[in-house]
Amino acid sequence: MVAATSTAEGWSSRSAFILAAIGAAVGLGNLWRFPTLAGESGGGAFVIFYIGCVVLLGLPLLLAEIFIGRAGQTDAVGSIKVVARESRVSERWWLFGGLGAMAAFLIVSFYSVVAGWVLYYVGVFAADFGSALMAGDPFRGALAGESQEQIAGRMGDLFANPTLLLAMHFAFMGVTLFIVARGISGGIEKAATWLMPAFFVLLISITIYGAIVGDVGEAAAFLFTPDWSKLTPEVMNSALGQALFSLSLGVAGIITYGSYIREGTKLGSTAVAIAFADTGVALLAGLMIFPIVFAVGLDPAAGPTLVFQTLPFAFESMPAGSLIGLLFFVLILVAAVTSSISLLEVPTAWGVGQMGWSRTTSALVFGGSAFVIGIFCLLGYNVLSDVRPLGFWSIFAETDILDTVDGFTGKVMLPLGALAASLFVGWKADRRLLETTTGLSGGAFAVWRFLLAWLCPLAVSIILVTGLFPSVLG
Ligand code: PFF
Repeated sequence: MVAATSTAEGWSSRSAFILAAIGAAVGLGNLWRFPTLAGESGGGAFVIFYIGCVVLLGLPLLLAEIFIGRAGQTDAVGSIKVVARESRVSERWWLFGGLGAMAAFLIVSFYSVVAGWVLYYVGVFAADFGSALMAGDPFRGALAGESQEQIAGRMGDLFANPTLLLAMHFAFMGVTLFIVARGISGGIEKAATWLMPAFFVLLISITIYGAIVGDVGEAAAFLFTPDWSKLTPEVMNSALGQALFSLSLGVAGIITYGSYIREGTKLGSTAVAIAFADTGVALLAGLMIFPIVFAVGLDPAAGPTLVFQTLPFAFESMPAGSLIGLLFFVLILVAAVTSSISLLEVPTAWGVGQMGWSRTTSALVFGGSAFVIGIFCLLGYNVLSDVRPLGFWSIFAETDILDTVDGFTGKVMLPLGALAASLFVGWKADRRLLETTTGLSGGAFAVWRFLLAWLCPLAVSIILVTGLFPSVLG
């Protein structure tokens, strides 16, 4: 079953794959976007609907993508061709692998810019904690003596400073490129096996801290008590899109990581473990952030600035806020690195598998060009702030450069990739190949195939249509 173009590299064990895939899935989507959306959408109803999306759509699609990679054993485009050939259907299905690789490439370009903001806040809090140490008061609150306007103003200052934004973006993309260029076992796997345990220790520690000093009861009520009137079509749409993004679906990332799985790995339970961990981290992120936000009486619906403006201000009046603030931004940074390497790996693997480039060349070509696109994204906050790249298109008429790349990949490319993957595996892939590769049979297999063939295409088409034509929602 191994393709002629098989990539020689692979994960050293099942747990290495699981850690790397959790690393890919857990990222800015969990720690920044999920709390932002949950806060804006009023909490409980969004969260419960989101969990439903993960179980009924995310999980089947996750297994479908792992399957393609495992069966194909090479980059996404090559893997789809292998599965198509073995299933005796048109090899032209590879197109959605190409689309996914392109989407992953575009996503990493702005993902690195946003991660650069996180890096800047790591610097701010490191300096602040440093001065707390020097003052002999390591457990003081963060940014002592600053007003809320001053703390919030840091974000505006950062955005107005292209050089600083560029330096952060450069540093983050550089680290991403370096890890990817080192390959699977020496780079990606090593990064995941070091960083993911550190990530979980930090996450659990800060969550416990939040429960002690913050208002965890109010946060839990906010996150888990549904007010169904808040579940509008827009909220459902964003929950669905967020489930795909958070599980890294639709952009061939999981196909690519799946291609490094060796024989004998149980794919069904592996997919469950990844989806469970990813969703657990998103919920814990909510349980970490909102108790702190509520304790100081701040607004949970602050939007994208929740993490960058609201929370730093909350840390000011918290015991040990300086130290915890530093750890909090390190936590987000770690999650962002393990995700951005998986994004860059998709086009890099394509260059290796389809173009015959060396890994270093391929990583440099794609990491370098994504870096350049990222520069335009960050200039969109200052020197190019008037530019609306897709301004002729009503849904992007008011959208700056970064949000346009984000919106186009998220609203168009990612749902298209997910739609094609569900149709391909749900309808076209050979049944015997599916069964032998996934190890599923009987009822579990039937349920999986049903969700993939019917529910996923339907739900993803709805995201696509309502995303492109919001007027449909009224
Ligand atoms: N899942 C990541 C997050 O939640 O931040 C983002 C992402 C990573 C999407 C890798 C797609 C991907 F291939």
